[in-house]
Amino acid sequence: MKVEVKNKSILDIPADVIVVNLFEGVKNPKGVTGIIDKEYDNLISEYVIKKEHFSGKYGEIYQLPVVKSGVKIFVAGLGKQEDFDYVKIRNLSSKIIKTAMLSGNVKKVVSILHGAGIAGLCPKGCAQMITEGVLSGIYSFDKYKSKKKENSIKEFIIAEIDKEKYNKAKLGVARGLIVGEAVNRARDLINESSQYLYPETLAEYACKNSGTETKVYNKKQVKEMGMNAFLAVGQGSVHEPKFIHMSYKPEKPKRKIAIIGKGITFDSGGLDIKPPSSMLTMRDDMSGAAAVISVMRAISEIKPDVEVHGIIAACENMPSGSSYKPGDVIIAKNGTSIEIDNTDAEGRVTLADALVYAEEIGVNVIIDIATLTGACMVALGTVASGIMGNNNKKISDFITTAYKAGERFWQLPMYEEYGESLKSDIADTKNTGGRMGGSSTAGIFLSKFVKNTPWIHLDIAGTAFLDKPNAEGIKNATGIGVRSLIEYICN
Ligand code: BES
Ligand code: MG
Ligand code: ZN
Repeated sequence: MKVEVKNKSILDIPADVIVVNLFEGVKNPKGVTGIIDKEYDNLISEYVIKKEHFSGKYGEIYQLPVVKSGVKIFVAGLGKQEDFDYVKIRNLSSKIIKTAMLSGNVKKVVSILHGAGIAGLCPKGCAQMITEGVLSGIYSFDKYKSKKKENSIKEFIIAEIDKEKYNKAKLGVARGLIVGEAVNRARDLINESSQYLYPETLAEYACKNSGTETKVYNKKQVKEMGMNAFLAVGQGSVHEPKFIHMSYKPEKPKRKIAIIGKGITFDSGGLDIKPPSSMLTMRDDMSGAAAVISVMRAISEIKPDVEVHGIIAACENMPSGSSYKPGDVIIAKNGTSIEIDNTDAEGRVTLADALVYAEEIGVNVIIDIATLTGACMVALGTVASGIMGNNNKKISDFITTAYKAGERFWQLPMYEEYGESLKSDIADTKNTGGRMGGSSTAGIFLSKFVKNTPWIHLDIAGTAFLDKPNAEGIKNATGIGVRSLIEYICN
């Protein structure tokens, strides 16, 4: 689908649907909504608002009962002006495009630039959010459905008559397309069946689609690199583990960042096998990896002055005669010995080696993103992701940046007392510390594999995969983290 902004009046762009908007409580619409109101003989002010009592409540979409020359008019409620923000624009745009699709026979939609009028938001940000919302709204994973969902909409045009705003909006649409497509690509990867998506195919995907130079290390090479912890997790599977390193290297980088994605292509729990209900969605255990690959692709398109390394230790956690076992001791790449207390706490064991590898590259900051702990889901639900690390300044910067990108992260503590429960009789550390404070103990475990580099850990266990649609209308894989990481790297 084409998303574009045109420097024209909304009335001069032929379309099947025209989208205007209304803040809650407004009785006499101004701006473009006012123009449409006049064009339709005050239908919005005299009928929709007065008789139909459409109040402009956030998220409500009212279709005018009159269709002139085949054009449908949607009035979208923006809610209270003081509550309005960028995320609301994104979620609303997703809803608008879904409504337009359902209304039938729509090929082209033209919309005003929500937020850039009386709300006074930045036209670039508004256009980016509209574009991201539209791409979310048309997203579906129906590859395995015999009957595919049809989308007749071919074009979504934003009309902006003010030249200055138009110029800014154009940049916003361009960025929105890159980010929105990156998010949808991550969703596709995560939703994919683990029958077809395993370390080898994930690595192939990264080579073809990350847009960056990609090196894939096989089992033998990984062994030579000393990554025994990572190898132990994958040893029960028929699929060979793969270590993936994508690099984006501009000429004179201002800084260097490594992003590591947890890449368990299926987490059965291993010998400490999960109960059926917990295992059902565990193809999502590579959501961090999917985010990293998609971010690399977006970075290759945006081309910031930042060197970015995308790292994934991809394997499958399965029970079999060759699996790693509870009570095993394995030696990680940095020499730390790990007693396996529970084979289902596998993500952190693979990340241990990936963190050591990332630090050896020599970067200014390492960020890992992982569906790491059920405890994080219990603590924060599906609404916010967890964030921890060894550098509070970087953590708070990340939270702020992510918030701007419309993703919420909440810091969980890493007080050293949480480390007590990781103490082992036979090794330097255990891989789990029991149920209490499970996200924090996981964070402490990871910290043992980072020496001096500022490091941020993102726990997306609760937010990566949803069993009911969120405010953006997205169910199953959300692509969480993609937007924040792109924003963080590029600013
Ligand atoms: N992949 C899971 C965490 C997870 C749970 C992700 C729910 C998404 C939704 C992780 O590997 C895991 O199994 N963690 C265990 C750790 C425990 C054994 C200490 C958990 O959280 O139960
Ligand atoms: Mg597990
Ligand atoms: Zn896992």
